[in-house]
Amino acid sequence: MENMLVTGGCGFIGSNFIRFLLEVSDFSGKIINLDNLTYAGNIENLASTAANFPDRYTFIRADICEPEILDEIFQTYKIDTICHLAAESHVDRSIVTPDAFIQTNITGTFNLLELARKNQDRMELFHHVSTDEVYGSLGETGFFTEHTPYDPSSPYSASKAASDHLVKAYSRTYGLPVTISNCSNNYGPYQFPEKLIPLVTFNALEGKALPVYGDGRNVRDWLYVMDHCRAIWQIMCHGTRGETYNIGGRCEKFNIDVVKIICDYLDDITPDTDIGPRRKLITFVKDRPGHDLRYAIDCSKIETALGWVPMESFASGIKKTIQWYLDNQRWAARIKSGEYMTWIEEHYGQHTENKK
Ligand code: NAD
Ligand code: DAU
Repeated sequence: MENMLVTGGCGFIGSNFIRFLLEVSDFSGKIINLDNLTYAGNIENLASTAANFPDRYTFIRADICEPEILDEIFQTYKIDTICHLAAESHVDRSIVTPDAFIQTNITGTFNLLELARKNQDRMELFHHVSTDEVYGSLGETGFFTEHTPYDPSSPYSASKAASDHLVKAYSRTYGLPVTISNCSNNYGPYQFPEKLIPLVTFNALEGKALPVYGDGRNVRDWLYVMDHCRAIWQIMCHGTRGETYNIGGRCEKFNIDVVKIICDYLDDITPDTDIGPRRKLITFVKDRPGHDLRYAIDCSKIETALGWVPMESFASGIKKTIQWYLDNQRWAARIKSGEYMTWIEEHYGQHTENKK
């Protein structure tokens, strides 16, 4: 693996993954970060890494829905490895505007696979980063394994399921060397403040309502983002080609409990007499349509076969995460205000939100 194309490298997991590859892992090659900078992609997430690794890191603003541009990049940079993270990632948005999810998550993945197939002689690996949401919803017991049948509930999870099937088909039909990971809910620095943990953290800091869907008794299995990055790299280096690996935190929590933990911790470290106890900001709102009840991952395959285990506990990970958001309020204010998008327009050319 010498010339790795990372797609979606300016997003939450992608930016943490590139930082991990360059600053922590034993990867010694070059990274080409391809991202079209949607509302969720922030080039500033990697500013210091880009400055520290000028010979090993290149950023290209491009859309995975444009095959001709991808082809040019493939030839210019002699890409031999792909780690594919680019996606429309937010379930709520997929319910309102599914189109971009179909384009980016399905057609975009297809474009990358086609290119990998055409350049198969030098292709070491196509790693596809996917989600546990493809398996649908669990009841109160049981776990998702790699053999759980796909049963997606939202346009987002259906589009990710379709992309997983395409990747598997390219492995079986064309012998493309692929690996797939299906991971549970990530949290940590740089997550766009539309997702539960950053949204609740910033609203709680500002004394705004904390929206909890339904009765708050939906369960998610939380994993600190760096643990996910380590798992992806472990699979890329040592995973069996053609196989899928589930990744999870063995950390099931009711949404309402996650929200209460954030409220209590903020009350401890940054009490605000005007706001008072933040639990009183909790507001139960209309449920998300098709809301999956429970996710829980059986990650024994990656643990046994590759020796990966989650290292961060939720107790320590959530504190680190909240502290990072406290220290980076300017980051959040800038991406939420539109100021950042204006800057992107000026520096990186025309931008269309949810392009295609
Ligand atoms: P994100 O929304 O934070 O980042 C997505 C990135 O993809 C952004 O930088 C965006 O600009 C880029 N992008 C979107 N459309 C593009 C296009 N057409 N061309 C090029 N770039 C494009 O998402 P994330 O949370 O970092 O998730 C990354 C991947 O991990 C996704 O594939 C997602 O399905 C998967 N995943 C996420 C989680 C999670 O909890 N966040 C869990 C499991 C799997
Ligand atoms: O499971 C992996 C998936 O986790 C990833 O594939 C997705 O890309 C990622 O967005 C995430 O999906 P969720 O829908 O689980 O994440 P979200 O943060 O949107 O919601 C977490 C839970 O909290 C979910 O049960 C819905 C609920 N929720 C969410 C928001 C934004 C609320 O109760 N209130 C909210 O305001």
